[in-house]
Amino acid sequence: MKPRILIIGACGQIGSELTFTLREKHGADHVIASDIREGSASLMQSGPFEILDATNYNALEDLILHYDVNEVYLMAAMLSGTAEKFPMKAWDLNMNTLFHVLNLAKDGKINKIFWPSSIAVFGPSTPKDNTPQKTIMEPSTVYGISKQTGERWCEYYFKRYGVDVRSIRYPGLISYKTPPGGGTTDYAIEIFHEAIKEEKYTCFLSENTALPMMYMDDAINATIAIMEAPKEQIEIRSSYNLGGISFTPKEISEKIQKHIPNFSISYDPDFRQAIADSWPSSINDEAAQNHWNWKHSFQLEDIIETMLNGIKQELKAN
Ligand SMILES: NC(=O)c1ccc[n+]([C@@H]2O[C@H](COP(=O)([O-])OP(=O)(O)OC[C@H]3O[C@@H](n4cnc5c(N)ncnc54)[C@H](O)[C@@H]3O)[C@@H](O)[C@H]2O)c1
Repeated sequence: MKPRILIIGACGQIGSELTFTLREKHGADHVIASDIREGSASLMQSGPFEILDATNYNALEDLILHYDVNEVYLMAAMLSGTAEKFPMKAWDLNMNTLFHVLNLAKDGKINKIFWPSSIAVFGPSTPKDNTPQKTIMEPSTVYGISKQTGERWCEYYFKRYGVDVRSIRYPGLISYKTPPGGGTTDYAIEIFHEAIKEEKYTCFLSENTALPMMYMDDAINATIAIMEAPKEQIEIRSSYNLGGISFTPKEISEKIQKHIPNFSISYDPDFRQAIADSWPSSINDEAAQNHWNWKHSFQLEDIIETMLNGIKQELKAN
């Protein structure tokens, strides 16, 4: 039987691409997109779309009952950079929406949940290279604290109430179709837009800051793969490490220069440098590989070509 899916935060960077992919897979009527704001015309016209403030439990429950939803992808959150400016708002949004969805599943109103965690669950005391699945986690950002807490609650709801919740610790995600939502890895998207438009970019992180990154298509594939895996393969009910690749602003700028020889980069680190410094440089995702056969496919060169071609095509079309 086809699932009936609700995506919360469907107009965001990940939600929008997830909506299109799931609609292609299951049929538009089986995937209800929702967000607190309107998104692109193409997203809103490609299937059912509802304005929803996911912090409102009653509105969320009504939508789930109205559409007979059985799976929820909760993509609404306040991301790392913005969360440092509005700590309490970030905590309220990130935690309350998760509790609402977990409680709806506990009460038997939905069967399965996807909730994304992040590499931000790690902190300055975590081993930085090839960071293991299980290790010291002392996040120093509001965003990271909300994600680590969320992981603990997901595992608790699975163990105590049998809630089928599945989660991935996304690294920084790179895509061109929807703008990024205020994270510390946003530079790795902005750099492509500025390279094409201005042939120069001022980076808000320092040149040798290595961070784990992934192309959006890989992240969407991983999200669908973990949701479709047989229940017994999901041995970790907090959240799975997901690796991808790792690079610094200097490395990516040198690769872009091969395509745009006049491109130049300068560095003016801001408050996001401290966030980046507290995160891993690279991630070990063997557990995801072993449990549900995860494997990423985009390497840095693939990402560079896809981003440059995609942005150029979008500029031509507009
Ligand atoms: N993008 C990344 O690189 C990255 C990395 C790690 C984890 N994540 C996680 O993935 C998820 C999605 O991230 P994203 O990059 O798409 O974020 P985003 O900011 O682009 O999108 C979030 C969406 O949620 C919506 N939203 C905010 N408050 C809402 C509310 N009260 N009710 C309903 N919708 C609301 C926003 O309007 C926005 O469209 C988040 O949980 C984020 O923490 C993202």
